[in-house]
Amino acid sequence: MLVLLLLGILVVVTASSMHRLFAQTLSSIPGPRLAAVSRLWYAYQVRNGRLLQLATTLHQRYGPVVRVAPNEVWLNSPEAFKIIYNPSHGFDKSDFYLCTVLFHPETDWRRPFHLAFPDTLDLLSERDMKRYRQQRRLIGPVYHETNMSKFAAVIDGVLSKAVAELKSLDGAEVDLKEWMHIVAVECLGAVVLSWSPGFLKAHSDFGSSSAGYYNWRRKSVFGLFPAFVIADFHSGGGGFVLKAFTHIWRLAYETRKDFKSFFPAVSTRISARVRKALKVKAQDPVVVSGKGKSDLLGDLIDLHRAKPDFQETYLRRMAVTNFGAGHETMCSALTAAMAMIGSHPEVMQTIAKEVRAVNDKGKPKHNITSARDAATKIPFTAASIKEAQRLHPAIGMSLSRVVPPPANPGDLPLELHGHILPPGTVVGCSPPALHRNPDIFGKDADFYKPGRWLDEECDPAQRRMMERINLTWGGGARTCPGRYLAELVVYKTVVALVRNFDVEATMPADKDIHYYFLAMLEGAKACFHIRKDEKESGSEPDSEPD
Ligand code: HEM
Ligand SMILES: *[C@@H]1O[C@H](CO)[C@@H](O)[C@H](O)[C@H]1NC(C)=O
Ligand SMILES: *[C@@H]1O[C@H](CO)[C@@H](O)[C@H](O)[C@H]1NC(C)=O
Ligand SMILES: *[C@@H]1O[C@H](CO)[C@@H](O)[C@H](O)[C@H]1NC(C)=O
Repeated sequence: MLVLLLLGILVVVTASSMHRLFAQTLSSIPGPRLAAVSRLWYAYQVRNGRLLQLATTLHQRYGPVVRVAPNEVWLNSPEAFKIIYNPSHGFDKSDFYLCTVLFHPETDWRRPFHLAFPDTLDLLSERDMKRYRQQRRLIGPVYHETNMSKFAAVIDGVLSKAVAELKSLDGAEVDLKEWMHIVAVECLGAVVLSWSPGFLKAHSDFGSSSAGYYNWRRKSVFGLFPAFVIADFHSGGGGFVLKAFTHIWRLAYETRKDFKSFFPAVSTRISARVRKALKVKAQDPVVVSGKGKSDLLGDLIDLHRAKPDFQETYLRRMAVTNFGAGHETMCSALTAAMAMIGSHPEVMQTIAKEVRAVNDKGKPKHNITSARDAATKIPFTAASIKEAQRLHPAIGMSLSRVVPPPANPGDLPLELHGHILPPGTVVGCSPPALHRNPDIFGKDADFYKPGRWLDEECDPAQRRMMERINLTWGGGARTCPGRYLAELVVYKTVVALVRNFDVEATMPADKDIHYYFLAMLEGAKACFHIRKDEKESGSEPDSEPD
């Protein structure tokens, strides 16, 4: 019996492998053989953090269309980008994003794939585009570029403390990722809640960046098996399936001895503020007008008061999302920027010249209030940040979407680069691969060259293409709503750090860089040396211009 059973399984596996390899529509698409047979190949690569290495080798080897799993394809070309991430009729997100849902859907065993997701403003994994567009319209004004600059002063406050703490280290080597996480979370705390998590004072993020990164590692593999994610929903959200999965794939991680998450403190504060604000509203609307705290939570509370559609659950959720979606991504971008700048002395010198310029009173000349502002006042610095985000984007995995059914019955199926991609195929571009595509960024796309973003140094047509075809802030209808907040923090931090320090950074070797869905330059080290001229003259430049 057993032998027969095993034989049966063998026959089924072989037949299905043969089918996947030779008979499916996708079988004409090049890629590693094992990838065509089973999803396990891709999952194993992701588990081992090999996404940067895949991004720099797969397309070179197989061309612009590569099959990474039986039903999943990576594409790398302007044409593919424009179709998949079209702002008005781009493709919907794939089931990968089920692994990022914040609240388990209601489930019914009799209809295993019918999942009713609650309406909670879960932007990253929202599947209902109608609901999503309404939500984005509601929060849009609060996160508008022009409204973010009012937080410049608060961020300056955090940065002058950060500069003081870094000076106290006297140039000692630090884990760049941890320090950039400290700065990111302190800035978010100050902007959103007028609050400090105490990271700067402690010179520690209490292991929260490492823990977060390992958690992304686990999610990135889990997300490749949507059936298991759904089974996990069905198992009552107790996480039984996830636990077993974690065990089998050996994705468990140990947090640092001093590990402490900052999310409980964030939630407590948000709850208290929201409760108080809503109580005041009920009792005495006069007290309310214009008297809220002038932080981002205050703006969100005002939005709730002005627009009933921005309901209380949305308000609470959005307040937390600033931290949830912002802390690791900002840490990633800051780490990339400082690691690239600090490991390219000539770039560091040029930036230093720009940001250390002083006015006639001897105070710093430039007070940056947005990325746009930086691009005009300190163009090379702005370019060096964009360039770091190009080579080391915050998302390391293909932003996967699904080929939709034909709009009209007679329509031809989607065809790209000579390959037919039937409805239901999971497609996407890997940001680190797309960002090194020579057709978009030029022959020297592998190199860190901030000048490519400057008008003087590049062809305007190429520049326009670079500005359009990139995934730094995502693509299509699903771009990052927190972009202007993130840019304000990242640009101001880079300015403050280079203004005050001669930064020296060491990059990890390419083979040691582990990327998951979230991508971070783990292992980058930096020394923040107090400026030589400052040491000599004893003058005190700081991050606060006039
Ligand atoms: C430098 C920092 C940041 C970078 C590089 C970044 C980048 C991105 C990218 C690439 C996406 C698209 C992800 C996808 O398609 O799967 C995204 C989505 C998102 N980001 Fe950011 N982000 C940053 C900071 C922030 C901040 C501070 C917030 C706070 C509000 C935020 C909120 C979100 C949300 C809610 C989404 C989901 C949007 C959607 O799925 O439609 N991000 N971000
Ligand atoms: C933000 O900006 C928009 C458009 O510039 C404006 O309509 C809105 O009232 C501003 N303020 C807030 C707090 O949203
Ligand atoms: C990338 O593309 C977006 C459009 O999606 C554009 O706004 C942005 O400026 C581009 N460049 C960079 C460096 O992010
Ligand atoms: C920088 O400019 C912003 C906006 O004009 C202002 O609020 C902030 O106080 C300025 N920062 C400093 C340190 O002068």
